Amino acid sequence: MSSQSKFETSPEALPSYLHQDDLGPWGNYLRQVDRVAPYLGAQSRWIETLKRPKRILIVDVPIELDNGTVAHFEGYRVQHNVSRGPGKGGVRYHQDVTLSEVMALSAWMSVKNAAVNVPYGGAKGGIRVDPRKLSRGELERVTRRYTSEIGIIIGPNTDIPAPDVNTNEQIMAWMMDTYSMNQGQTATGVVTGKPITLGGSLGRREATGRGVFVVGCEAARRTGLSIEGARVAVQGFGNVGGIAARLFQEAGAKIVAVQDHTGTLHKSTGIDAGALLEHVAKTGGVGGFREADAIANDDFWSIESDFLVPAALENQITANNAPNIRTKIIVEGANGPTTTAADDILHDKGILVIPDVVANAGGVTVSYFEWVQDFSSFFWTEDEINERLERVMREAFAAVWQVADEQKVSVRTAAFIVACKRILMAREMRGLYP
Ligand SMILES: NC(=O)c1ccc[n+]([C@@H]2O[C@H](COP(=O)([O-])OP(=O)(O)OC[C@H]3O[C@@H](n4cnc5c(N)ncnc54)[C@H](O)[C@@H]3O)[C@@H](O)[C@H]2O)c1
Repeated sequence: MSSQSKFETSPEALPSYLHQDDLGPWGNYLRQVDRVAPYLGAQSRWIETLKRPKRILIVDVPIELDNGTVAHFEGYRVQHNVSRGPGKGGVRYHQDVTLSEVMALSAWMSVKNAAVNVPYGGAKGGIRVDPRKLSRGELERVTRRYTSEIGIIIGPNTDIPAPDVNTNEQIMAWMMDTYSMNQGQTATGVVTGKPITLGGSLGRREATGRGVFVVGCEAARRTGLSIEGARVAVQGFGNVGGIAARLFQEAGAKIVAVQDHTGTLHKSTGIDAGALLEHVAKTGGVGGFREADAIANDDFWSIESDFLVPAALENQITANNAPNIRTKIIVEGANGPTTTAADDILHDKGILVIPDVVANAGGVTVSYFEWVQDFSSFFWTEDEINERLERVMREAFAAVWQVADEQKVSVRTAAFIVACKRILMAREMRGLYP
């Protein structure tokens, strides 16, 4: 099949630097944009803006390993759109990171930031490295060299990285320090998700998982589902999945299945999220947890639940496993976990999907609070942060839900309508330079 027939996008909009027959996650994003195009009205004139990242930087990251040899890693920073404000988005360390993936993740950040109306564009970064194979010293050297290399395009007013898969507060601290050293002054606002003692925000670590939980509750309320006793299956038990599971459990739900890169667990009476979090902190994964049954990875998708929370990587719910899924509401904690083909299957099965660009926006919302606090050097209480986070998430959810209802479209398309209109309105009002 030619790439022309797969996209309404003109063939010249498909980047020459990606494989034309398999655009990867960027292809998934382009299909989502094509779906929203008919709803953009006058703004559709600017739609090509969304299909072309503004700026892509690919860097070589050489470091000396502990054994004295030199290793090279490929690093990226993509700024998809900055019409509404500086670029904002996480940095991922993973051996399978690709340019297509970082491009798609940066675009989803543009959409997400506009959907919850925080004043940012979209960006994302990544390094093709398996951090589990590096010593702490090697990890620090990779982080510092990568930060120096992308230092020419990041900054508190230009593009603000944050944690993503396999990156954490320590890595943000090294990034902030490296950037600050190169600037000759401490610039706390260059990254978010920092340790509290270095200008981080209370509540940031839990923010994405908390946001997933808040929109899950909103979706349940509107569909008449009770959280008390609800069965929840979670894929990915890291920052997002682990916290979301804990909050669902605290609200009376049962965690019936959990999957991560080390295995899959099942327990119909409920897995204790607190005990599992401790096990993961000690061992690095859910595998080997004795208080639940280990099952085959493929069986995870067919476990009956009320909520399914994909919170690992993208392209996990596909045309292959979507037909087996038996749940009522999917709350996308991960970015891009559902392919467009799977989306259609889930829709036909009557499963409600709350899309990533709304469901996991809690992290960037509290990142925005962190950035504001850093600029003013005045820090808020955790209660203030959680209360403001919940308000932003509820308002964003309500606005998107209303559009879905009025236009009779999926919640994902509704979120894209709200967000893309905001981005393209900004594009139009700013005009083209020169
Ligand atoms: N951390 C944030 O604030 C944030 C914000 C928005 C979106 N997200 C998205 O949420 C997702 C998870 O991010 P995180 O910060 O929790 O990362 P994390 O590194 O803390 O956790 C990732 C989890 O995914 C699991 N995983 C990895 N490969 C897997 C596989 N093949 N099968 C099953 N599980 C696998 C890991 O075992 C781990 O439990 C990503 O898609 C990320 O982009 C994160």
